[in-house]
Amino acid sequence: MSLTSVVIPTTPFEGQKPGTSGLRKKVKVFMEKNYTENFVQCILDALGDKLKGATLIVGGDGRYFSKQAINIIIRIAAANGVAKLIIGQRGILSTPAVSSLIRTHKVLGGIVLTASHNPGGIRNDFGIKFNIENGGPAPDSFTDAVYELTKKISQYKFTPDLDCEFSQTGTQTFEVDGRQFVVEVIDSSDDYVTLMKEIFDFGKLKELIRGDGSRPPFNVLIDSMNGVTGVYVTRIFVEELGASPDNNVRRIIPLDNFGEIHPDPNLTYAKDLVDKVKDDTTYDLGAAFDGDGDRNMIIGKHAFFVTPSDSLAVIANNLDCIPYFKSKGVHGFARSMPTAAAVDRVAAKLGKEMFEVPTGWKYFGNLMDAGRLSLCGEESFGTGSDHIREKDGIWAVLAWLSIIAHKNMSVEDILTEHWKTYGRNYFTRYDYEECDSDDANKMMAHLEHTIADGAFVGKTFTAEGKTYKVKQADNFSYVDPIDKSFTKNQGIRVLFDDGSRVIFRLSGTGSSGATVRLYIDSYEKDNVTCSAQTMLKPLINVALDISQLKKFTGREQPTVIT
Ligand code: G6P
Ligand code: ZN
Repeated sequence: MSLTSVVIPTTPFEGQKPGTSGLRKKVKVFMEKNYTENFVQCILDALGDKLKGATLIVGGDGRYFSKQAINIIIRIAAANGVAKLIIGQRGILSTPAVSSLIRTHKVLGGIVLTASHNPGGIRNDFGIKFNIENGGPAPDSFTDAVYELTKKISQYKFTPDLDCEFSQTGTQTFEVDGRQFVVEVIDSSDDYVTLMKEIFDFGKLKELIRGDGSRPPFNVLIDSMNGVTGVYVTRIFVEELGASPDNNVRRIIPLDNFGEIHPDPNLTYAKDLVDKVKDDTTYDLGAAFDGDGDRNMIIGKHAFFVTPSDSLAVIANNLDCIPYFKSKGVHGFARSMPTAAAVDRVAAKLGKEMFEVPTGWKYFGNLMDAGRLSLCGEESFGTGSDHIREKDGIWAVLAWLSIIAHKNMSVEDILTEHWKTYGRNYFTRYDYEECDSDDANKMMAHLEHTIADGAFVGKTFTAEGKTYKVKQADNFSYVDPIDKSFTKNQGIRVLFDDGSRVIFRLSGTGSSGATVRLYIDSYEKDNVTCSAQTMLKPLINVALDISQLKKFTGREQPTVIT
């Protein structure tokens, strides 16, 4: 049967501006008549001439509204001359899996249906993000173009009678407006599992997890937080590496509301896992992922916490434990600006190039494509490499297990050894979530004003007997070394003359209100085993003093501390 497309008139919606990582709004906003349709049409329009005859990957973390959104995408894509969609079974694909599929199938891009670590379910968040040909999140130039289109959209194309099931794998072919339109539904994890097997030595990892004659099983607890990684954790950890489905993994069935939890792997939202690993001292390592599987948190025995900044530095220092890097070589390292500078010290020692980019994984892509970057990470629980163009939670855990298998040391001992060699960048982040947007903007304006004062550099601040002298202060900006694109207003940095830093930024991933992030980074050469909160207390007080945060936001305490 031949299907016919129609043109449906529409009017623009305000605020369809993609944030750090795509458009995120409450589900009920995406459900408004034409809201999702408009945004999808604008993504396709922004692709221009490349769209006709192209193939796109479609999938996401399975959160509420994913299926409806996929049905809309299928009907709009068909009407716009897309030749083929490759969709994860039941619409399930982790963000790293989408990135990998775009690269393996060499397609134009992928539409990822996720709001990442934001809660899901009918009362919570949904999101749509576009990844480009290299597998990475679209750059600002693309998302800005999409936003401009959303402001003037007047119609979208739609194939109303196209009914397409995506619960079973297989290929379906349709005739739309006289053209062929193909939907291939694929297994959600096959391609990703193959990739992980190419990168890591699964035989060695299995020996670690199962134990062998010389050592007992290394007891892990892998927590998918009811997100998409459950599918991949089952395949990789249980089926391939022999982990126990009862004792080594938890919350591995993806739920469309993530079981009403906040699927963000940090000490606050993954407290449940932290408590379990603390209580059951037989566990050697705990790990958790966010809703769409790109973030990770690593804890050792007794829930010894590894900051993402340290995790990056340790992996950088031990890349020779991972077969992929042995064969591909190690080019440079990178981190986002607010991420503590621990990896910089490893780069200096190993003689590797080091890059500091704005917050957001999209800023790593060009460097990787140019062959100048192998490993990178962010304080926001992201770690990854040039095997794909997204951060990759499961990859990070497999990297840690490879290092542990190779060194035969505990997580805590690996960290302690690392700090003794390099010194330690104490780091913490305070989040003040859902502040009033005006209040948060006023605070940022106050900071801009404060640092613009010529007398600010050289000024001293004292808290709890410690004095810090301002060496430099600015609003971070970045020129991409490859395409020379310029990004500004990426966070207020105050750098002190002892190397400590305090940074203020507004989150770009929320769906309502404003989240103020305060990042604190301070280096100690010798005193490396103290509590971060104690060590950083004076600097935190200095940051609160400079920003007048309590006055502007009315907040006495942060919502989340990591
Ligand atoms: C997403 C991006 C990350 C980025 C983070 C920042 O997770 O994928 O690359 O670091 O957002 O979030 P924020 O809320 O601080 O803007
Ligand atoms: Zn995510």
